[in-house]
Amino acid sequence: MNARIASHLNVAGTYYRLQIHSPQIGKKARPGQFLMLRATETLDPLLRRPFSIHRINPDKTIEILYKVVGKGTRLLSYLKKDEDIDIIGPLGNGFTINKKIKNHILVAGGIGIAPLLFLAQELSKDKKNRIILFAGGRHKGDILCIQDFKKLKAEVKISTEDGSIGKQGLISELFEIFLAGNGESSSVVYACGPKSMMKEIFRLSSIKEIFCQVSLEERMACGLGACLGCATDTRDGYKYVCNDGPVFDAGEVVW
Ligand SMILES: Cc1cc2nc3c(=O)[nH]c(=O)nc-3n(C[C@H](O)[C@H](O)[C@H](O)COP(=O)(O)OP(=O)(O)OC[C@H]3O[C@@H](n4cnc5c(N)ncnc54)[C@H](O)[C@@H]3O)c2cc1C
Ligand code: FES
Repeated sequence: MNARIASHLNVAGTYYRLQIHSPQIGKKARPGQFLMLRATETLDPLLRRPFSIHRINPDKTIEILYKVVGKGTRLLSYLKKDEDIDIIGPLGNGFTINKKIKNHILVAGGIGIAPLLFLAQELSKDKKNRIILFAGGRHKGDILCIQDFKKLKAEVKISTEDGSIGKQGLISELFEIFLAGNGESSSVVYACGPKSMMKEIFRLSSIKEIFCQVSLEERMACGLGACLGCATDTRDGYKYVCNDGPVFDAGEVVW
């Protein structure tokens, strides 16, 4: 279906925030779900591209936060306010929120922060929830939307590989230090970012017996379970990231 672009901003470097008017999707969407978007009606690139739902606004417009990495995202970045975009969604399962658990640890690597803002929005509706965000990147230009998390009363911990903001090093190192002093099995961890980061976050969470969910990114052609292109190996055999995920219990994934 086509939906109208409500705003489209370059937030920093190659990162953009796209706001789309689609109340039908806005009303149904859950944190961790994604959209398939196509920027042009031409055949190149033919396929839609998957993007996490970043935020739902009070007027039910939906936002995505994306990084330009190739042709599809470059063409997307040229679209302007009031133009139409081809969109399918919401797709996938989304994060599981256990209402009995009050400590929620969100771990983002780079653009992996995109789905976690929507998750923090949802979690902040319960005032008893403690939300802790770990945001990591190569340099300070990769650390995005921190103020948005702070407005939701999240505690924010940052690391960059070059030390240009936050603690110097990997976000998993900062997470490990935190767990040493605070980790309780009555917490839950939600991670999104490079696979190597998620693997390490899962390993560290397991030591403390903390349940960890990860949002996987596989290349997708259809996003609908039809092409079998996004298979990932799990302890129960191959599963499809678009239909069975993108969120998985980290213990289920064959790393
Ligand atoms: C469920 C899901 C949610 C996603 N959410 C976001 C999001 O919120 N914001 C965002 O910026 N990106 C997100 N992505 C990744 C995004 O879909 C890709 O960056 C995009 O499809 C690249 O298209 P392109 O034509 O610009 O690049 P291409 O020309 O197709 O590829 C350019 C480079 O990016 C790599 N790449 C492409 N797709 C992926 C992928 N899925 N995973 C890892 N590397 C890839 C390629 O290997 C290549 O090196 C998500 C992916 C999935 C599967
Ligand atoms: S992308 Fe086609 S089956 Fe998942």
